[in-house]
Amino acid sequence: MPAIAVLGAQWGDEGKGKIVHLLCRDADFCVRFNGGTNAGHRVVTSRIPALVGANGDDEPTETQEFKFHLIPAGALHENCICVLGNGMVIDPYALVQERNALRDALRGREPNIYISYGAHLLLPYHPIIERLEGSQSALDTTAKGIGPAYRDKAARIGLRMVDLLFPKTLPEKLQRVLAHYQSIWPEVKELQQFQSEALRDELLKLTETFRQRIIDTVQLLHDALEQEKQIVFEGAQAALLDLDFGTYPYVTSSTATIGGIGSGAGVPPSRVNRVIGVAKAYTTRVGHGPFPTEIHNDLGDRLRQQGHEFGTTTGRPRRCGWLDLVALRYVSKLDGLSELALTKLDVLAGLAEIPVATAYRYQGSTLHEFPAVCEMLSECEPIYEKLPGWDEPLGECHHFSDLPRAAQDYVRFIEDEINLPLSLISVGPGEDENLWR
Ligand code: GDP
Ligand code: IMO
Ligand code: MG
Repeated sequence: MPAIAVLGAQWGDEGKGKIVHLLCRDADFCVRFNGGTNAGHRVVTSRIPALVGANGDDEPTETQEFKFHLIPAGALHENCICVLGNGMVIDPYALVQERNALRDALRGREPNIYISYGAHLLLPYHPIIERLEGSQSALDTTAKGIGPAYRDKAARIGLRMVDLLFPKTLPEKLQRVLAHYQSIWPEVKELQQFQSEALRDELLKLTETFRQRIIDTVQLLHDALEQEKQIVFEGAQAALLDLDFGTYPYVTSSTATIGGIGSGAGVPPSRVNRVIGVAKAYTTRVGHGPFPTEIHNDLGDRLRQQGHEFGTTTGRPRRCGWLDLVALRYVSKLDGLSELALTKLDVLAGLAEIPVATAYRYQGSTLHEFPAVCEMLSECEPIYEKLPGWDEPLGECHHFSDLPRAAQDYVRFIEDEINLPLSLISVGPGEDENLWR
């Protein structure tokens, strides 16, 4: 039984959540290994197992949408154990809220979650610090406090999930980090109001119902591998937002590429058998940073409207552009992709022609390799190949051969250019709008 990784291959929001949900139908574990509430993974389903059971086995329930931020998107499947790995930063207030909302939607069924000892706590002062430092506006982050929480981890002043199991030493640890920030911003009341004992009490009360779920998830996952259980690793964010390999500094603060599974879940990437990159049939980006194929005219608005390109977490309009094969080839190498899932092909219907970037023009020469350096990337002009479009909506296509010829050619062109099989083509947000090949 394989371990499968599902990784964002662009700048996020490629449809990872939907694909993870589909794959977890047959999985024993679904594991998040990076990020926090900056992730927003939307799943649209008419077959929530718990509810289908109530209606009779094969009868679809009414269509419902779920937005996952911290809880892995496999959580709708009753038999799938969800793991929040050590590479995550977890806002316990948000986790309780998300868990309660999910439990209500599942008619009282408790989501099957385990949280790593080593996952870091994202606490209420982190978003305040992010705002005070100005990175929220300079980078256009999700404003959730992600950067400061990961920085505390690297500076070794962060608090971890396991600290909630040792209430006696918790105030001392909280005091250390609070004193640090309170001394930097003595005039900021919002920060001065935190007191270590009071915060400890609040955290203990808040986490009462899930503290027994804070465990050694490294052991749990290695036992699972030993027993040949099927594991789906759910990437958050994406390669071009990766702290090391993305378009720094316009990136997130965690490892969103394959190595994140090793550092953020304790499972060596060599144990992963399938690495599925997820890319839209075009490109989007939320937040600042270079984006060579961005469309600055009405066509960009059209993609935004047709693709509902507004953030799952923050509602911000996403910047839209054409597919960038230079970037995808780079990501394929970084992640060792075995295949690509192409989502939102339906959104391209109705265009006379579809430009796809195959190379860049940079200072008079042609580049075939992606320069992940903002100073260079922002000067790159895409060199486009223009492919014929199609008019037919794709929502009713159930097999690859149902797609209009031009859509099939679009897919084959990408396959040839990036030298990867496109194993899944998705033509709508739902569970039945996926063409596996
Ligand atoms: P994630 O962060 O990678 O999980 O992606 P998001 O959930 O943030 O954004 C992807 C959006 O596209 C969600 O609203 C999905 O419901 C939607 N979606 C996924 N696949 C398709 C598709 O093939 N076609 C269309 N039209 N929408 C899709
Ligand atoms: P999913 O998992 C799209 C972007 C933010 C910002 C930058 C840094 O849904 O694909 P952060 O708050 O992480 O410090 O912000 O990264 N960003 C995302 N963009 N999808 C995401 O997650 C993102 N998570 C962070 O917009 O540009
Ligand atoms: Mg998203």
